[in-house]
Amino acid sequence: MSFTVKQLSPAGASEVTGLDVRNGIGDEDMSRLRDVFRQSPILCLRDQHLSPTQQANFSRQWGPLEKQGKSDYCHPDDADILILSNERRADGSQVGIVDAGDFWHSDSSHMEEPCQMTMLLAVKNPEKGGDTHFINMYQAYEAMPEALKARIVGRSAVHHSSKTLNPRVTISAERANATEYYKSSEKMKKPVVQPMVRTHPATGRQSLYVSPRFTIGIDGMDDAEAQPLLDEVFRHMFSSQAWRYTHKWKDGDLVFWDNACLNHMAGGGYEYPDTRRMHRTTIAGGKAFYESKPAKT
Ligand SMILES: [Fe+2]
Repeated sequence: MSFTVKQLSPAGASEVTGLDVRNGIGDEDMSRLRDVFRQSPILCLRDQHLSPTQQANFSRQWGPLEKQGKSDYCHPDDADILILSNERRADGSQVGIVDAGDFWHSDSSHMEEPCQMTMLLAVKNPEKGGDTHFINMYQAYEAMPEALKARIVGRSAVHHSSKTLNPRVTISAERANATEYYKSSEKMKKPVVQPMVRTHPATGRQSLYVSPRFTIGIDGMDDAEAQPLLDEVFRHMFSSQAWRYTHKWKDGDLVFWDNACLNHMAGGGYEYPDTRRMHRTTIAGGKAFYESKPAKT
């Protein structure tokens, strides 16, 4: 099967049409799609109305899937699918995670072995809002002033998932018991150290690897020095629209992205009963990704 690729944004987003992934894709298409993905780390496959099993099987063509931590929100047909949704059951309980991705981040950078890719299927979009924003961290790094690069290259940052450890984020009021959850995770989960600039194992390009959501400090540096430096790095990250892309979803969009070289954030802007439902899989990083060393000057 041949497919068509059209650039959506010079910040690294492309659209793929003419590909039906319901039963997986052949080696030739997979090889071509991998090449496209290296050049364009945000890919949108249009018109993919997949069952959870079909989505999970296609995701597995890219590599082993991560186990989803929040079992209450996994899909009953396939536990590798995590439901992100603001839908509520008759008893008022949430069907899925309601505040997923509400600050800029790279998925699971707070874990020792972060995932390489995330795949989101738009099952139901709201009437308004629900966009997903991306920052291309290759491009942000390449445009960074040399003096600032020199201050972070070779350094590692501290990542943690607890929002209560991070002054740059707030906790959604929509999520019941979230403060208690994050407070207990301060102790349950240990901080993880990641290079601030990492070399992509497939492309060899260097990119920034920090985020306002999960990066809470710099390894071996006092906060008095580290926090202003992080602020400076984040200011640079947000200083230009040139490396930003906003995805406006259509039902049936299957969007996947490369967490090694992007930050992303859910845009919000919709309210129940205007519902948004996404099905998510995450593809594990593989040894080369976990072990990528801090870039040298
Ligand atoms: Fe995310």
